Amino acid sequence: MDTTIENMINSIDLSAPVPEYEPMRQYYYLKACRKIVKEKSEALNRPLTAVVSTFGCQMNARDSEKLLGILKDIGYQESDDEENADFVIYNTCTVRENANLRVYGRLGQLKKVKRANGEMIIAMCGCMMQEPEVVEKIKTSYKFVDIVFGTFNIFKLAELMYMCFTGDEQVIDIWDSTKEVVEELPTSRKYPFKSGVNIMFGCNNFCTYCIVPYVRGREKSREPKEIIREIERLVSDGVKEVMLLGQNVNSYGKTLDDKLLREIAKIDGLERIRFMTPHPKDLSDELIEAIRDNSKICNHIHLPLQSGSSRLLKLMNRQYTKEHYLELVDKIRNTIPDISITTDIIVGFPGETEEDFEDTLDVVRKAKYDSAYTFIYSKRTGTPAAKMDGQVSEDIVKDRFNRLLATVSEVSHEHIKRYEGMDMDVLVEDIDDHDNTFVTGRMTNNILVHFKGDKELIGSIVNVHLDECKGFYYMGTKND
Ligand code: SAH
Ligand code: SF4
Ligand code: F3S
Repeated sequence: MDTTIENMINSIDLSAPVPEYEPMRQYYYLKACRKIVKEKSEALNRPLTAVVSTFGCQMNARDSEKLLGILKDIGYQESDDEENADFVIYNTCTVRENANLRVYGRLGQLKKVKRANGEMIIAMCGCMMQEPEVVEKIKTSYKFVDIVFGTFNIFKLAELMYMCFTGDEQVIDIWDSTKEVVEELPTSRKYPFKSGVNIMFGCNNFCTYCIVPYVRGREKSREPKEIIREIERLVSDGVKEVMLLGQNVNSYGKTLDDKLLREIAKIDGLERIRFMTPHPKDLSDELIEAIRDNSKICNHIHLPLQSGSSRLLKLMNRQYTKEHYLELVDKIRNTIPDISITTDIIVGFPGETEEDFEDTLDVVRKAKYDSAYTFIYSKRTGTPAAKMDGQVSEDIVKDRFNRLLATVSEVSHEHIKRYEGMDMDVLVEDIDDHDNTFVTGRMTNNILVHFKGDKELIGSIVNVHLDECKGFYYMGTKND
């Protein structure tokens, strides 16, 4: 762990009053919690364990790494055995109704487990907690949940745990916007060799279907200097690939401009740069050129379409038309011929007609996506679309969803095959789930490759011959 943070924590005097300012205040609580966890662990004669469950997007996953960093710092061991853990935290997502349903389902299970193990501490945080009705429901119907906090104050985990350890009430702390950003805290990366890096928080776009601006607050960019410093620190700690994260990383061309990308690319030892998610309305020529000019910037753009119908795009407040989107795709492909383009698509937005849907299929065919995440429109309370006329019937939506899936797989299978027979660099990420004599890694275009290899290869970039395309992934052979 970062030695400066460690020294600061060590210098804290627990008998002095709690510091008022951050990050010293959290350092105080980290130290106070370390003491409590140590005592509990000695009494039980075993280490305490913690499970952090992530339900949402990459930003949610990055937040989980920060939560786990704090938990490990105060003495918990990471575990994936929820039933026997001493501390379980759900980092929730509310972008679609099924994200919420999954959380409630799992929480119901956990209630039974907690009945048998009264010592277990259960915490809930993340985007769902920014909805007042959810917090109300937890207060009244899920009283066994010990700690509830939101998206703006995850840095306070140690303080909230201290309140939980020393009190006997449900601890609830929800903010409605970013009051302060506290960054100098321990984090625990899931992968030693790659990391997400927040470059902006929140979203100001208010796409009419989307709840994210309400639960993540207004857009806030981080200072380029701080971003660079964080990446330099990560690289010196063994990171080879960073994913620059934000709901709209290129908002008005502001946060992720080509200058920042080119600066990041200069960092010695950093080998790959990804970013997620750019908005089509803000994708500048300069950004496309920066990707072309720099071999460290990965050959992949995730460019959410949402719908191919200009009429619906207007109702969605996406601020581009079908034609504008297709021109953008052409420009990208003309500038960077071997780029991989992926997307997000929503089916069944209120008022979607067969003709609108045909426009979406048309864009899928013309844009030749390497893959697409397809979603059934989910009505989110409080968003403008929830009140729009013409909610599409379930049967029609299901039928369109299946037709969309079929078109996406036809197009992407055909398109992805273009790499067959080539030699490509692959960053090895893991042992293969299905066969432990194989490893799995990603090419710069984000496509997965499986090939024979052992765990020694994890975290390194190796050259692989792509033998066969299996739809969404490749089987390959490592080149000597
Ligand atoms: N900021 C990113 C996406 C964040 S949410 C962007 O603008 O691209 C990820 C995806 O979830 C969105 O791209 C969209 O396709 C989908 N999504 C968001 N709200 C939704 C809703 N109410 N119903 C169905 N899908 C939704
Ligand atoms: Fe949601 Fe639109 Fe913001 Fe993406 S850009 S998070 S879809 S409001
Ligand atoms: Fe979900 Fe929140 Fe991400 S709603 S998609 S976890 S920003």
